[in-house]
Amino acid sequence: MNKGIAVVTGASSGFGLLTTIELAKRNFHVIATMRNLEKGETLLQLGKQNGVEKQISLLELDVTSESSINHFKNYINELGSVDVLINNAGFAGAGFVEEIPLDEYRKQFETNFFGLIAVTQACLPFMREKQKGKIINISSISGRVGFPGISPYVASKHAVEGFSECLRLEMKPFGVEVILIEPGSYKTNIWSTGKQVTEKSLNPNSPYFTYMRKIEEQLEKGEHNFGNPLDVANRIVQLAEEEKTSLRHPIGKGIKTAIFMKNLIPWRMWEKLFFKKLG
Ligand SMILES: NC(=O)c1ccc[n+]([C@@H]2O[C@H](COP(=O)([O-])OP(=O)(O)OC[C@H]3O[C@@H](n4cnc5c(N)ncnc54)[C@H](OP(=O)(O)O)[C@@H]3O)[C@@H](O)[C@H]2O)c1
Repeated sequence: MNKGIAVVTGASSGFGLLTTIELAKRNFHVIATMRNLEKGETLLQLGKQNGVEKQISLLELDVTSESSINHFKNYINELGSVDVLINNAGFAGAGFVEEIPLDEYRKQFETNFFGLIAVTQACLPFMREKQKGKIINISSISGRVGFPGISPYVASKHAVEGFSECLRLEMKPFGVEVILIEPGSYKTNIWSTGKQVTEKSLNPNSPYFTYMRKIEEQLEKGEHNFGNPLDVANRIVQLAEEEKTSLRHPIGKGIKTAIFMKNLIPWRMWEKLFFKKLG
């Protein structure tokens, strides 16, 4: 049975790519969007291997480009329907605040926050008219907890959380469910794409060098614990199919406990634990 039309942003790699395949396997027709269609080959190959290539349509979409968003709007106008939207496109800007040019914050928000809003606005009319739809925003543990050295990313994901809370309450009476998925650390390209800025804080001349190195060491130590991105893709698909869902869905090793603890214990104690762990 055809489950309807799903749109995925950032489908060229990581969660977006795997979610596209899993949605197609569950009989959704997936509009797999990416900013560079030349990167679509891996997805198409994987689609063929899984026998679902006919369930996938590639579409160019850079979520930060007005003309690209307009083209996307025309495309879905012709389709006339969007049942599920997976707002996944994103990257992680890093570094210490003093060393990050303001423009880098703007770029981070253009993709992770304003881009998500633009794609959502394009899809909302169809869902509202049908009185049915699901919007799954890929947030992060960084949308619930702050970490030093990645403030652009943390700030953008906190913004996504606030926005999604409002949107959920706005759209519930219209039959549209808004959901946040909050993954911990998973093996995808995200760890290499936002590195340019971190480089500055990793320069031995930087006053933040020692601190940033400690953070990097912690990350490297934990790398073997990074989860399999397929688990996140499967969770997204499960949420896409569920009738009634709650707003927030943390996923990953220790993530629920971390969020619970942060909300439970006083900030002073949380901070102490953080610096103790950092060493
Ligand atoms: N991996 C993790 O541990 C983790 C944890 C929590 C949350 N997340 C979130 O999961 C989402 C997917 O990331 P991922 O881990 O799967 O990393 P990824 O493999 O790097 O995928 C990111 C995707 O976003 C796309 N993208 C970036 N800027 C874009 C733009 N302006 N327009 C359209 N697409 C754009 C990338 O396209 P290009 O190929 O063209 O760069 C890529 O397809 C992100 O929102 C991220 O914040 C990841």
